[in-house]
Amino acid sequence: MRISVIGTGYVGLITGTGLASKGHTVTCVDIDKEKVEKINKGISPIFEENLDEMLKKAIAKGNFNATLDIKNAIFNTELSFICVGTPSKDDGSADLKYVEAAAKSIGEALKEKDAYHLVIMKSTVIPGTTENVLIPILEKESGKKAGEAFGVCMTPEFLREGRAVEDFLNPDRVIIGQLDSKAGNLAKQVHETKDRPFLRTDLRTAEMIKYSSNAFLATKISFINEIGNICKKIGADTLQVSRGIGMDHRISPHFLRPGIGFGGSCFPKDVKALMHQASDDYDYKPKILNAVMEVNDDQPLRLIELAEKKLGDLNGKTAAILGLAFKAGTDDLRESRAIPIIHKLIEKGVKVQGYDPKAGETAKEEFGDKITYAQNIQEALKDADFCLITTEWPEFKNINFDGMKGKAVFDGRNILENRADVDYEGLCW
Ligand code: UDX
Repeated sequence: MRISVIGTGYVGLITGTGLASKGHTVTCVDIDKEKVEKINKGISPIFEENLDEMLKKAIAKGNFNATLDIKNAIFNTELSFICVGTPSKDDGSADLKYVEAAAKSIGEALKEKDAYHLVIMKSTVIPGTTENVLIPILEKESGKKAGEAFGVCMTPEFLREGRAVEDFLNPDRVIIGQLDSKAGNLAKQVHETKDRPFLRTDLRTAEMIKYSSNAFLATKISFINEIGNICKKIGADTLQVSRGIGMDHRISPHFLRPGIGFGGSCFPKDVKALMHQASDDYDYKPKILNAVMEVNDDQPLRLIELAEKKLGDLNGKTAAILGLAFKAGTDDLRESRAIPIIHKLIEKGVKVQGYDPKAGETAKEEFGDKITYAQNIQEALKDADFCLITTEWPEFKNINFDGMKGKAVFDGRNILENRADVDYEGLCW
């Protein structure tokens, strides 16, 4: 099939190159000239395991390109994915300006196109958006009716950063929200993946499945963190508790790793957006989701409380922070739990020496010259009074702490293995 993908951010680029690797002919569209040029040269603007390779292969094969020209991309393809960003506004609601702009451009092109075209929403949008925002704009700009001249679907993505290529090629399931079965059949064809279950729903149900998935996983993390906080007080072994409950197939062992909480571009944003929609639009005050966020906000600061309990006033001390990215395997700092920790330490008069194998450069945008950026673990540890481990990078499993002035190490991710070498304390284990 000939496919256009609007937006070459994280989801767009993986969707585009992934579909090209399955043999489709793909045109990715973006408004950023520099990005388009980079992609056409086979350079991925973002770091993601195996993405560079998949992009280079697609370009070499000749069935993939990027362009600024959305009109031609719509004319020359049978279906379009909308993969633009939906950032959070200050009040937690989702900002739909990129979705609206993409819908307007697609609608304008559809006005001049005679053949049937399918528009698939892949951006994470709050339930009702495809029906209440996308379709009206498409209809207004094209002068045509959805379900007749063009089809509309909503197929959420469930890509984890660092594993996104694998998740795209081997999803657990494919959710297809459809306006009608003609559109759904075409969307199913393009998502065909061997041995994977499909679930076909209406548009807003598909949107809700995406939010509910993320909200549930976030809930599991805050749940195990709360249990971990209680275990630490009672003297029970949090990690064994996690393992023990995870053996129950109804619970499953996944997403039960205790620590300083969840960050990233999805969980915090999506939980907040769902809470916002429920309370502001439907006058329902979510209690569980509220508690999930509350636990997640407190959790990183507990690591500092542990340090204060052991070391007293931290003012004037030097801290080594190992890990700036929101999780291992990415250079992404968004909502990283290291951010509130570092800001709090700075506020308390602590000198921060940060290190991350991938996110050092991104971190400069967040912290500027308020902290120093080490090039390696040893540089971060040099003369530090204490060390906080904030991301589960494998290289933090075994560390030589000889260069530190103090001996106290506080682990927020349960990653350090050579614990006997230092005065070790885990966050909730
Ligand atoms: C997540 C979802 O997994 C994915 O399906 C969705 O499409 C986007 O959001 P991602 O943000 O890439 O993916 O990261 P994920 O691996 O899910 O981890 C999110 C955060 O939770 C990280 O900060 C991670 O450290 C934390 N986490 C995860 C825990 O603290 N404990 C766990 O057991 C699992």
